[in-house]
Amino acid sequence: MDNSSPTLGAPAGSDESGKLGTGLNRVDGPLKVCGLARYTGDFYAPGLTHATMLQSRIAAGRVKRIDTAAALAHPGVLHVMTHLNAPRLPEGGQAGIKPPAGRTLSLLQDDRVHYDGQPIAVVVAETLEASRQGARLLKVEVEEETPVLDFEAAKAEAHPPEEAQGQEPDSQRGDPAGGWSAAAHRHEATYTTPLQHHNPLEPHATLAQWDGDRLTLWDSTQYVHGVRQTVAQRLGLSPEQVRVVNPFVGGAFGSKGSAWSHVVLAAMAAREVKRPVRLAVERTQMFGPVGNRPFTEQKFKLAADTEGRLTALEHHVHAETARIEDWIEPSALVSRFLYACDNVATSHRLVPLNVGVPTFQRAPGEATGTFALESAMDELAHAAGIDPLEFRLRNHSDFDAERGLPYSSKSLRECYARGAEAFNWSRRDSRPGAMRDGDALIGWGMATATYPAKRMPAEATAALLPDGRVRVECGTHDLGTGTWTLLTQVAADALDLPPSRIALRIGDSALPMAPVSGGSMTAASAGAAVFSACEELRTRLIDVVVADEDSPLHGVPHERVECRNGGLWHRNEPGRGEALATVAARHREDELQVKVKATPGPDAEKFSKHSFGAVFAEVRVDAELGVIHVPRIVAAYAVGRLLSAKAGRSQLLGGIVWGLSMALHEHSLRDPRYGRIANANLAEYHVPVNADVPDIELIVVPEDDPHIGPLGAKGIGEIGITGVAGAIANAVWHATGKRIRDLPISLDALL
Ligand code: MOS
Repeated sequence: MDNSSPTLGAPAGSDESGKLGTGLNRVDGPLKVCGLARYTGDFYAPGLTHATMLQSRIAAGRVKRIDTAAALAHPGVLHVMTHLNAPRLPEGGQAGIKPPAGRTLSLLQDDRVHYDGQPIAVVVAETLEASRQGARLLKVEVEEETPVLDFEAAKAEAHPPEEAQGQEPDSQRGDPAGGWSAAAHRHEATYTTPLQHHNPLEPHATLAQWDGDRLTLWDSTQYVHGVRQTVAQRLGLSPEQVRVVNPFVGGAFGSKGSAWSHVVLAAMAAREVKRPVRLAVERTQMFGPVGNRPFTEQKFKLAADTEGRLTALEHHVHAETARIEDWIEPSALVSRFLYACDNVATSHRLVPLNVGVPTFQRAPGEATGTFALESAMDELAHAAGIDPLEFRLRNHSDFDAERGLPYSSKSLRECYARGAEAFNWSRRDSRPGAMRDGDALIGWGMATATYPAKRMPAEATAALLPDGRVRVECGTHDLGTGTWTLLTQVAADALDLPPSRIALRIGDSALPMAPVSGGSMTAASAGAAVFSACEELRTRLIDVVVADEDSPLHGVPHERVECRNGGLWHRNEPGRGEALATVAARHREDELQVKVKATPGPDAEKFSKHSFGAVFAEVRVDAELGVIHVPRIVAAYAVGRLLSAKAGRSQLLGGIVWGLSMALHEHSLRDPRYGRIANANLAEYHVPVNADVPDIELIVVPEDDPHIGPLGAKGIGEIGITGVAGAIANAVWHATGKRIRDLPISLDALL
């Protein structure tokens, strides 16, 4: 069985255009519908064994004793790894902590327990069933301490994070207190967002195989190069000794941006049993040891003058974190720039609890922050007697006052206008409860959406193959988001080849370096690298043929030759030229390949770069039962150039569904006594089903951004979730007159 990442192109004979902006079908679609796309848990290695993690059932204390006799006596059980016999790792297993990939892990290096759900043993067996039974047969004796789980009480211990997503945790400009006291309209309130867990369809999984002192990991991750680096450091290896393979991911949502404990534990266990180990994280284990979105409490003070212009904005965030690691949900960053206001203060504080380490989850910061900010804006608009959309227009920011920079592009006004028109916003009766339809209270709410346009350096290679196809390689990932298709399209477009002539490889740390596929930056980062590599290859090919006496283009000036329609042709002499395959046949492969590193240009620091959008939601609330239904959402976005029409729309729609999920469904319930998640399964951790998802009308406002990179693409993966919870909360208020400031909005809050 070939265990490497596949090489994909569009199916041969597909007559689709590879042009950017068109709706190329997924190049990995045939593999997926045929069940041939292999996810981490599908990979196999000869002699494969199975591992099960045993988790702590206390939230604080230490493991006194683990009796492994019964487990080891169970048929098929090969090894039990505990803190007593686990190999000792450099720096106690915490070498190379550097987020996103490097985090504080639980690697059985001591007897301490810091949270419920912490891995405390790994059982390796011939079968999955035997490893699970072995884990059940372990007898664990613990010494329990009183865990810190009370958020209110622990606020006394709150401290600022070192940074908030690369920015200062606190900010102040102007005179917020003065702006507040001088204002005509004031609003002050506290909003909360709940603990949430990522729960992609595919839980985390790792297959670890040693070959001497070289380690190969098949790992469901957003960051093959990061996992390689961090696992190497934990185990005291050089990165060259580790390879991470990951062709397909069944959703990630941020939790797979970091290498969590199970990845390193699988590698340790495989070394102990001298056989390959597969460790598939169980669904219930998705709640605790692999990250979460932390609970946030966000205090707002928002004030405006008689014209409805903001005179003060304060946004202060307390978010929980683990006692073993500081990770901040940076909810207030968005308040620093989204609206024009001279007097702004924001802050972030961490409240450490005995819980698993939180992490990036689906627009970390912007998703939670825009719920609070957009709710507060709605409340102040009502207090000032101004339509919510008009209120936002009056406070539109034409310039990023926090960073003192112009926007690279901003089409938010068009998003408001087109969204409002499609929604029929002008027909909204501003009085809450006024749009009743029988037993249903109808509410219309809106909010602004935004997400940063990030880009990081990335490398790629492009090579002309002997058969005239072009091989493109980049160590990036497809999380289910469409990267296979997008990069095929970028390469086909750059070289004017049909997409079936591109042979793409991604999802392997043996391929050129690419950043984490998070922060909605894969298209801008890996896309730019593939684009540059293809441009460079075109230049190389033209150089080769004009210097080649055997080419019909010999001696033609470089600029007179173009790469078109699968060949190189003279621009002015029709028919003079040759097919790429003919060129390939005459030259060594190493002459016909290039490697590039694409980095953001000097423009990058001169602009504030964000995607923007406007979300309009309608809710119907049953007047007697409080049941909330969302029949309609209209959302308009400006995201730079939309590279892949189908995949891009899918991303935005998916993001809106996440937002609906955040507004009405998702909520991890933690028992305040034990720190254990009471609904650690997909039956009780609610996510929307098809019947919950409304008719979504999506508008993509055409936008050109010349400063963002060669492709002109801004972030698209996460903006969809932002603003949606705010728009729905505002619609619920408009329907019922009840302002719900705590997510998710449940029917009992309305009764
Ligand atoms: Mo996303 S939370 O940046 O993977």
